[in-house]
Formats: sequence, structure tokens, C-alpha cells
Amino acid sequence: MSPDDLKKLAAARALEMVRPGMRLGLGTGSTAKHFVALLGQRVAHGLDVVCVATSEATQAQATALNITMSTLDETPELDLTVDGADEIDHDLRLIKGGGAAHLREKIVAAASARMIVIADDSKLVSQLGQFPLPIEVVPFGLAATRRAVEAAIIDAGASGELVLRRRPDGAVLVTDGGHYLLDAHLGRIDLPDRLATLLNAVPGVVEHGLFLGLATGAVLAGADGIRLMGEVD
Ligand code: 5RP
Repeated sequence: MSPDDLKKLAAARALEMVRPGMRLGLGTGSTAKHFVALLGQRVAHGLDVVCVATSEATQAQATALNITMSTLDETPELDLTVDGADEIDHDLRLIKGGGAAHLREKIVAAASARMIVIADDSKLVSQLGQFPLPIEVVPFGLAATRRAVEAAIIDAGASGELVLRRRPDGAVLVTDGGHYLLDAHLGRIDLPDRLATLLNAVPGVVEHGLFLGLATGAVLAGADGIRLMGEVD
């Protein structure tokens, strides 16, 4: 099976958790896209759910599939969010934001009673940090914020290069929230809680891609089948 087949398999298993009447958070990325597509098929056959998207891209996909969409202002409490991840460790800690959507993804996950991660099993790691940690920052004061982020990283016992994320055409990438991204190439994050706390305290940092204590379960698809972690019904 190709990695994309595995992503679809994980998405299909997570779809089994969806019940009529649920309020759902819809993630962003290639794996979440499969989930939204499969959800759209169920909706076309009469499933009644209300959804909140974590990005403009997911909003457009779900709307095109006639999925009933809402906002966190109208629907501030969600039953379940299904989203992908860039890394997941054995304690359900995540790095997210490879798709530049982690700000809204974290807000939506925090508003959800449950967050299920769907991924191919290559995302499972014993140690977070090989994937560059996305740090969303306000454009104003970028150089000063960068210095403060570098200090926070060193304070957390890590080190590595910060790279301003660009689009394929070379322009600086601007997130759905109008911010920039600094990708921290750390290699390993030994103290994720400490790093998260220190980054949260930097003025100019809007949000980072460490999701700690948010995921309640995971569906990981691999060559040997589906692996469930945490609470998945
Ligand atoms: C977007 C994300 C995605 O969930 C993450 O990048 C995984 O994407 P994919 O399913 O395409 O591997 O965090 O901000």
C-alpha cells in the first residue's frame, strides 16, 4: 500500500467514530483531506453533522461536499476533532503545522472533547523534534521575536536553526491568520513541556506546533494494519 492508501485507511477508521448529530472539528493536510472526503460521502447519504474547519482549504473542501459548516463562535464546543500530525510520540504528544494550519488546529482541538490523530505509521516517533517545529509569529518585530525564540530554545536545552518558511515561489508564506512561520530545526526535543511554556511566553509568538495533552487517541495505518493508541471507539 502507498503512504496515501495508508492515510485513507486511517481516515476511514476514524470515520467509524462519527455518530449522527456530532459537532466535528475538521483538520488540515493530506490525511485530513481523506477524512473530509469520506465524511462528505456519508453526508451525501444522509449523515447529519455540523463541522468547524481548521483552515480555509478544509473549509472550501467541506463546503464543496455540502457538509454543514459552522464556526467556533456559533458552535464553541465540539464533540470530536479528527486531524493529521507531522509527528506523534507514544504519549500522544504531537508536532503539527507542517501544513501551516496549527494555530486554528490547536484552537479547534482545544474546543473539542476528543481529538483523534490520523496518520500513516511513519509519523510515530520515539522522540519529538526530527520534524522542524513550526512557530507562528507576528510579522511586526520579526528579528526581535526570532532572537527571543532562539533564547527560549536554548533555555529548553535544545538548539538548531530557525528558518522563515517560504512558498514554492520564494515569497514568505503567510498563514490563514496573516502571520509568518519560523521552522525550528531542532533534531530532538527533550523537554517539550518546558519548550512549550517558554515559547508561549515570547511576545510575538502566536502559537507553536507542539500539541501537548490535546490528542486523546490516534489511528495509525501501516503495512501490518491499523494501530490504535489512546481512546478510540
Ligand atoms: C497542518 C498539519 C497537518 O496535520 C500535518 O502537517 C500532517 O499533514 P499530512 O496529513 O499532509 O501529512 O499539522 O498544519
